Amino acid sequence: MASGMKTEQAGDGFPRHVAIILDGNGRWAKQRGLPRTAGHSAGSENFRKIAYYCRDIGLDYLTVYAFSTENWKRPMEEVRTIMRLLGKYLHEAIETMERDGIKMRVFGDVSGLPGELQELVARTNEISEHYDGFQANICLNYGGRAELIQAAERYARDFRDGVVSEPLTEERFGSYLYSAGIPDPDLLIRPGGELRISNFLLWQCAYSEFYFTDVLWPDFTTGELDRAIAAYMNRDRRYGGLR
Ligand code: IPE
Ligand code: IPE
Ligand code: MG
Repeated sequence: MASGMKTEQAGDGFPRHVAIILDGNGRWAKQRGLPRTAGHSAGSENFRKIAYYCRDIGLDYLTVYAFSTENWKRPMEEVRTIMRLLGKYLHEAIETMERDGIKMRVFGDVSGLPGELQELVARTNEISEHYDGFQANICLNYGGRAELIQAAERYARDFRDGVVSEPLTEERFGSYLYSAGIPDPDLLIRPGGELRISNFLLWQCAYSEFYFTDVLWPDFTTGELDRAIAAYMNRDRRYGGLR
């Protein structure tokens, strides 16, 4: 599908928000006899390509899982390379995002990231406030359970301090999540062959449609995304009701 897809297909059934678990970088590298870090580098390049495509076909939001709260368990050298690549990506994005019409937000515990990365995240957020348009959310040092706990703690604090007095509703709780103000993902894609959620967007994916593929993330093309969206558009979303 070419990049005019939105005008032809937006509206009925076209997703507004797609989430992707960027998995399979290590295996992609292994298949080629390369170090795992080469897979992360290829994965980072692919994110750039897919993000532009998502903007072009008219999605409103793309949320990607780039580094989980559990990924710190990996060898220090691999973690360091991933952090360096994320820094490089954000640094380049800061130069081009406004021109390219891409807003960016980071979901996760930014305070646990290296100082340099924290500064880049702050700069990215600041630039994103100045314009509207397609938004890419990058989940960094993100865990679904950690997100729920920080939201519960912040709500409890606000309640104790009298900032809120109303009972807790799903809507109000959602406003304490990193994704506050953003509609839930319509479609969650996991490349890399694993059939699990790995602590991603546990609250927000309550009614998302799931799409799994064996294709490894660095090999995931715009054509694969078209296939996932086409599959999504054939789904019958009932939200517990009848049709
Ligand atoms: C995803 O690729 C990137 C991160 C989790 C940081 P992996 O590194 O998990 O790649 P595989 O699953 O080992 O192939
Ligand atoms: C999920 O992939 C996390 C990210 C892609 C950032 P993992 O490779 O960490 O997940 P598991 O360990 O296979 O569940
Ligand atoms: Mg993996």
